[in-house]
Amino acid sequence: MRKNSRLDQFLDRTLIFSFTSVGYDLRKSNFEPIPRIDGRRVVVTGATSGLGLVASRQLSELGASVVLVGRNEEKAERARDEIRTTTGNANISFELADLSLMTETAALTERLAAGPPIDVLINNAGVLVGERTETDEGIELTLATNLLSHYLLTESLADHIVEGGRIINVSSGGMYSQRIRPDDLQFERGEYTGTAAYARTKRGQVILTELWADAFASRRITVSAMHPGWADTPGVSDSLPTFSKIIGPILRTPEEGADTMVWLAATDEPVPSGKFWLDRTPRATHMTDRTREKPADRVALVEALQELSRPPG
Ligand SMILES: NC(=O)c1ccc[n+]([C@@H]2O[C@H](COP(=O)([O-])OP(=O)(O)OC[C@H]3O[C@@H](n4cnc5c(N)ncnc54)[C@H](OP(=O)(O)O)[C@@H]3O)[C@@H](O)[C@H]2O)c1
Repeated sequence: MRKNSRLDQFLDRTLIFSFTSVGYDLRKSNFEPIPRIDGRRVVVTGATSGLGLVASRQLSELGASVVLVGRNEEKAERARDEIRTTTGNANISFELADLSLMTETAALTERLAAGPPIDVLINNAGVLVGERTETDEGIELTLATNLLSHYLLTESLADHIVEGGRIINVSSGGMYSQRIRPDDLQFERGEYTGTAAYARTKRGQVILTELWADAFASRRITVSAMHPGWADTPGVSDSLPTFSKIIGPILRTPEEGADTMVWLAATDEPVPSGKFWLDRTPRATHMTDRTREKPADRVALVEALQELSRPPG
């Protein structure tokens, strides 16, 4: 882990340079090689595309036994076969679940809990949609995919994560723009905008990271949130085509975006729990007081997540 240099502090304030490949290029000179983690069991959600796919491949190269979580069987099979072939690591498997559905997420946790203990859980799957959409279970899609499923997975699997294990929540710099709204998690009030709905779920992940860091401290489980910066993935080009075109030439590669995720999963440097990371360095969680929640908001958030993540029936 690096201390914030003056250059880094300057980059932090510029946002556009910090989040793009410019920031990554300027910071990476201090990065140490990531150590091998042979045999460690890592579960990665959203492993069939973009950052999750790249991170899974890199973790496989480091010797991990990786469980790819995907919702599409063909894509999951393709990812597994490609990773096995390119890395020569046969310990790559997949599990299928539509994480926007709590019934499927709950079934996934049962299957994972019946398997070997987990060393690292990476909550990476995420969506940004243009219009307010409800799942078949009646939950707003962004909330269900980005926050509820990962809440349910983590809470249900916590006892199955080894002592000294790690949980990594893939958040976003977008969370700087929003505060959490526990009384309107499903974005039923006001005009829906996909970027705001997305940012609220990403803010929720950062809050959960801090709460889980305390909750799992006695078992020495390190909980981290990270943001990848802006990386060139199918997710970005599909959901933000104009942004993708404008920033395109300086978007990070998926490997650069996934670097901190892989580093947090594998580093043997001491990592303080409960932090929000970019480029292997903890960052501020707020840029303005406007986005700060009160302690009561945190209590209300957890109550709402408990209620909404309960599978129907
Ligand atoms: N790329 C960036 O610049 C950036 C910036 C900030 C944060 N992030 C975060 O990084 C994470 C990965 O994003 P990405 O850019 O790599 O996007 P991506 O290429 O669209 O990958 C998203 C992954 O999530 C999976 N997923 C989506 N909905 C799902 C569902 N209902 N059930 C199961 N899996 C589902 C997708 O599965 P399919 O393959 O089946 O679609 C895919 O594997 C997200 O949490 C995103 O918010 C990305």
